[in-house]
Formats: sequence, structure tokens, C-alpha cells
Amino acid sequence: MTTEFHGRMSRRALLQVCAGLLLTTALPAGAVRAAPSTGYRITATPARARLAGLARPETDVWTYNGTVAGSLVRLRQGVPARLVVKNRLSQETTVHWHGIRLPNEMDGVPGLTQPPIKPGESFVYEFTPPDAGTFWYHPHSNSLEQLGRGLAGAVIVEEREAVAVDRDLLWFLADWRLTEGGGITARFGNRMEAAMSGRVGNTVTLNGRVSEAEAVRAGERVRLRLVNASLARVMALRFDGHRPVIVAIDGQPCDPHEPAAGRILLGPAMRVDLMIDMQGEPGRRYGVIDDFYDGLSYRLTELAYEEGPPLRAHPLAASLDLPRNPLPEPDLATTERHELTLQGGMMSGMMMGGGGMQGGGMMHGMMGMGGGPAWSINGLSMTGDGHAGMAPALTFQRGRSIMLTMRNETAWWHPMHFHGHSMRVLSRNGVAVPHRQWQDTLLMAPKDVVEVAFVADNPGDWMLHCHVLDHQMSGMMTVLRVDGSN
Ligand code: C2O
Ligand code: CU
Repeated sequence: MTTEFHGRMSRRALLQVCAGLLLTTALPAGAVRAAPSTGYRITATPARARLAGLARPETDVWTYNGTVAGSLVRLRQGVPARLVVKNRLSQETTVHWHGIRLPNEMDGVPGLTQPPIKPGESFVYEFTPPDAGTFWYHPHSNSLEQLGRGLAGAVIVEEREAVAVDRDLLWFLADWRLTEGGGITARFGNRMEAAMSGRVGNTVTLNGRVSEAEAVRAGERVRLRLVNASLARVMALRFDGHRPVIVAIDGQPCDPHEPAAGRILLGPAMRVDLMIDMQGEPGRRYGVIDDFYDGLSYRLTELAYEEGPPLRAHPLAASLDLPRNPLPEPDLATTERHELTLQGGMMSGMMMGGGGMQGGGMMHGMMGMGGGPAWSINGLSMTGDGHAGMAPALTFQRGRSIMLTMRNETAWWHPMHFHGHSMRVLSRNGVAVPHRQWQDTLLMAPKDVVEVAFVADNPGDWMLHCHVLDHQMSGMMTVLRVDGSN
């Protein structure tokens, strides 16, 4: 887990995280209880939020409907949804419904799939979510800054039949870079950072606040939906004294399994659904620790058991399996094979490991980073957020089974996100990946080689990019086309 960067992340940053944890008194419930709806109005608007407790100053943020995290969008599997997004920011925006397999025109990539929503204007997103699970939404326009200032929210698509748990909880996790005065550090798009780990912050919030403790009851079974809405922070969560079971990744159910070494690895934009039988002692507290960065582990929160007798003597007998989603199974006998090679960044010989800047007309939106792009995919660097005229790196015929070999030739971690599809993860570094896992955001460790497969069944031009947003903005982005003409 070690990279050069970790030693350089300031101790002060860590202390700020810890201080925030100590000062907090709020105890957000996090229960997923809003009624599902087919009609939503979502306004992107500036607001103020108390991210790090009452003793710390308020922060000017950008929000969906005035709150951090933004309004929870609760949809039903297979039921048409209509979401009216209004822009009250002073700059253009769009909304990307991350992980939801929807029609291309609803994907929220400015220029590529829709015109940007200008200040004061609205856009209506309409789609029918085919998959139940945990998803999220965020801008795809000036993404690094807009997400970094707080524009993000969760989407929960309910199963057709309720899953047997005592409580269904959401922990929407976000990472902020705050100043002493409570402001958000400006300087988005620092070129040095963009070529390394990206903008890792100093304050991690759970449902919009630094969390001291989350209340639980002995004996209950909780479905816990984790969303990592950070710009760049990778998380590895451990639940002291508990044995969480992973039942879904990126919204897609997998075979229930305990995470390797008890650590739940959660890259930016990833989601993991856990089932946890709360078998701790009433009245006790158990730490939830993020120890991804060496020497910088911190307590995300604590599970605080209420006093009183357990809800039940033995764990619930109900199965942990979630119903599978209707994903098309790739035909491994007839797959078409392609490769995507990730290059660039610091400490891999030179800034650009690949063929340099070949993006042609795609070089706008460098956010004042100066110089060339920091990253490339197959030797090409698309920068920014997505815009008109992005030539696809690969074109697939609709309906074909595709196998992609993704090679990370860099010294850095990259959560690689593919729009419009979910990918069956076949192998990592030559070892088969168990538990029938599907992902839309594939976390790649330095030097990883991962094989994935999917059916190219959703026509359109789809982004594939790193979800460390400063990596995306500085070149780790491409377009894959599914040709709908047959
Ligand atoms: Cu979550 Cu292209 O994004
Ligand atoms: Cu990356």
C-alpha cells in the first residue's frame, strides 16, 4: 500500500482530521428512510455547511438542494424516473448518474452527451434504472472543483422486494481540504498533485459531517451502503470487533464474502454494500478505522452500542444474498479483446510515459496546470471533463462481448470508471477474481494488470476515465464507442 506520496502527506493534515473527530458532537442518523419517488427536483446551489462540528467555522459549499451530502435520490428498479436539475451556480454544470446503466443522452457529459446546463437553466434527466443498488450523482463539468466544493449525492435504487435487514444505512463519505478558517482551499488543479496522488484532503465527513459515533443496537443486522465520494482519497476500512460481509460492489450484488484481511478497499467513486450483524456488547464502542495511507490511519467513526438487551440472541437467519441484477453475461468464448494501457505521472521515469500529447484539438481545459498533460491512456491524453469531438479510442459493435485488459504502468492508484456499463472482473495479475464481481469503477494498484469483460449493449459514446479527478482532468480519460447502427 505504500507509495512515495504517503510519507509526504503532511502530519498537520492528519492532525486536522483527528481534531475534527474530537470536536464533533453531532450524530447523524444516516438511516435510509425517504420514500421512493419518481419525480425529483435537484438544484445545484451554493450553501453553508458545518462539516467539522459546532466548534469549527462553517464552510461555503456548493450543494444539491442546500445540503451536504446532497439530497438522497431514492428510485425503484424498473420504474421510470424523472429528475429536474436546476443550475443556481455561477458556472455551467451537468449531472452524471454514476454507475446507472442509462441511455447515452442522460449520461451527463457536457458536449459529448448533452449541452452543459447554463446558470439559471434546467435540464430534465429521464431514465429507468435497470439495476437495484447503491449509486451516486455528481457534476461532470469542472468536476474537480464542483465535486471538491461539495456537489454530490447518493442514489439508492430499491430492489423489487425488500431485503431482510433491520436497518438500511448509508454512509456517504467525502474528503475535504479545509483551511483553518473553515474555507475550502482553492488552488484546484495543482499540477504537481495531479501527477501524483491527486487532491487528497484533510477532513473526512460521513453523511456531511465529521462523525464521532454512529449508534447501533446489539443483535441487529444492518445493510451498510458505503459511498466514497472523495476526489482522490482511497479508503481501506476496518470495523474493530466486527465481521462485515461484502454483498455488493458498485451497486452490483456479488457472492457474499468477507473482505481480505478484514479491510474494505474503497477507491474514489466506488460503492460497497455490507451486511453487518452487530454482535458487540451493549454500551461499548468499536472503532471504524481507515488505514489506507501508511502512517496516516485515522478513526472514521465508532459504532456506539446502545445500552439495553440485544435485539435477538442469534444473528438473523435470512440469507445474505441480494437478488442479482439483469446484467448481460459476456460470452467468454467469443470475446473481442482490447487493451488499455495507463501511463504517466511522477516517478515512472518521466512525466509522460507514453507517446506524449496526441490529443489534437482536445487540449483545452488544462485548468492552469501549464505544460502538457500528466497522464495518458493508450498514448492519448484527453483532458478536462468531456466535450464535443472526442474521437473514440475503441469502437465496439453493439451486442459484442468485449474483454479489456487494463494495464497500470504507473506508480499510482487509479479507480478507472466506465460509463453506461458494468464490467465483470475476471482476473487481477493473472489470478482469477472470485465472488462474481461486477464493477463500474475498478481500483487499480500500481502496476496492476486487470482483465474485465462486458457486453457492449448500450449504444453511444461513453467516457472511460480515472476517478481521481485531477488525473482525469490532466489526461487519464478516453472515449469508448458502442456503435448502435446494427
Ligand atoms: Cu463518476 Cu465520469 O464519472
Ligand atoms: Cu488516476
